[in-house]
Amino acid sequence: MVILMKAAFIQLNPVFGEIEGNIEKAVTLIERTDAEIIVLPELFNTGYLITSQQEAFDLSEPLPGGKTTETLSAIARKKNAHIVAGLIERQDENLFNSAVIISPSGYLGKYRKIHLFNEEKLWFQPGDLGFNVFDIGICKIGVIVCFDWFFPESMRTLALKGADVICHSANLVLPFCQDAMITRCLENRVFAVTANRSGEEERNGKKFCYTGRSQITGPDAKILCRAGAVTEEIGIAEIDVTLSRDKNLNYYNHIFLDRREKFYH
Ligand code: ACM
Repeated sequence: MVILMKAAFIQLNPVFGEIEGNIEKAVTLIERTDAEIIVLPELFNTGYLITSQQEAFDLSEPLPGGKTTETLSAIARKKNAHIVAGLIERQDENLFNSAVIISPSGYLGKYRKIHLFNEEKLWFQPGDLGFNVFDIGICKIGVIVCFDWFFPESMRTLALKGADVICHSANLVLPFCQDAMITRCLENRVFAVTANRSGEEERNGKKFCYTGRSQITGPDAKILCRAGAVTEEIGIAEIDVTLSRDKNLNYYNHIFLDRREKFYH
């Protein structure tokens, strides 16, 4: 049996603080995207290089209930698509680097980034919701945000929970992730959609260059689609979800049943 579906990333270069314009650009690109799952970058609506707690607070929104979730819900309904997108979540006085998961019927859930990178530790609380799998009908998705890739436990946990496709919202600055995702997907036999941002940000004497090269990676270590380094673009791949459900590497090796957990502690 084959279960075919389309997965897409949207690679963007958001303008810091210009929430309305950034959302508008994302919606324009989503309009042109024909896929069941569409992944947007980390903090796609605000930009990344925050310089103060107040600034982060001013750019945040409740999740669900904020303007970004509302706008993405409308376009998800129109396109009959699922959307995963990164934003700053505010809950009382706490901020999280979160991703929202939206179905054609509206808000489905959220993920709060567990492994915070660099100065994110000054602005955000570490994620406290764990790694959860969302059943979207045609497949099961798991969500990670950017630096989570560095910790093999992130994708392993989601794969063990049954995720077929890892939706990876990112603002990558190190040059390693795109190649590392080949191994991450191979060792878990899952698909991954890494939606990275492109461009540079220079604020308060700090400069970050984002690596672009968003990527869709298959369970057989194949790169199904890769974006340019400095572009804004849509990438789409047709994937057969059943490939992620077959964890047999050969007649003798099942990659999960062969795990020797008692030696891993
Ligand atoms: C990152 O986690 N944004 C590098």
